[in-house]
Amino acid sequence: MSRKPIVAGNWKMNTTLDEARTLAEGIAARTADVDGVELAVFPPFPWLVPVRERLGDTGVQLGAQNCYIKESGAFTGEVSPWALAGVCQMILAGHSERRHIFGESDELVGQKVDATLSAGLTSVLCVGELLDERESGDAIAVVERQLAAGLANVTTDLLQRVVIAYEPVWAIGTGVAATPNDAQEMCAAIRQWMAGKFGDDGATVRVLYGGSVSPDNAAELFGQSDVDGGLVGGASLKADSFIAIAVAAATV
Ligand code: PGA
Repeated sequence: MSRKPIVAGNWKMNTTLDEARTLAEGIAARTADVDGVELAVFPPFPWLVPVRERLGDTGVQLGAQNCYIKESGAFTGEVSPWALAGVCQMILAGHSERRHIFGESDELVGQKVDATLSAGLTSVLCVGELLDERESGDAIAVVERQLAAGLANVTTDLLQRVVIAYEPVWAIGTGVAATPNDAQEMCAAIRQWMAGKFGDDGATVRVLYGGSVSPDNAAELFGQSDVDGGLVGGASLKADSFIAIAVAAATV
């Protein structure tokens, strides 16, 4: 089964309301340029609804950057995946900034994946090693540990709503992307691990690369056989560069 590429924009804690609307309009206006690629954007929480209005029926998917693990209750400041299910289609789990700035454990990330899937949404599970973990030769072991915890309770029937994003921490926001070879090697290792746990269904889960993806390097990264598109931070904040990256995914 062929895997449709995804190009997803993680806006992080950026954009004013006006900027978010303008960015969404810019992307919505250009979707016809991008054929055969699923597009998604992950704006800050308060802009989800206004961005959804601007995206209209273009087919661009909408996602949240984070969620809590419960349906409702006394969890001040948290956002339920069941509430998000009325607004968007996807939720990130375990982005490196959540893991390393906010101390989210592998176990909590797994609970977020479970809650997202239970609420009927797609979970984009982010995994990736620190620079010292790569330098000490532990990168694959770290990513496999994050996969095992993140997907501990996921069953094969839910895999259609799982996407993996490999984002080496040292490549995020640094301007230094992984080499296409390194991205391919890890995405292949992720696919192999998925096949080992889930069989053929596991092997067809889409695996994205993230970390300093730009219009200049996207084609080479996405041209790798196990890289099914990208999760894009900085370069997703301008419609032109986001669309250029999506076009690269469409043409490889
Ligand atoms: P970047 O961020 O493209 O700015 O490196 C990627 C991410 O954190 O998802």
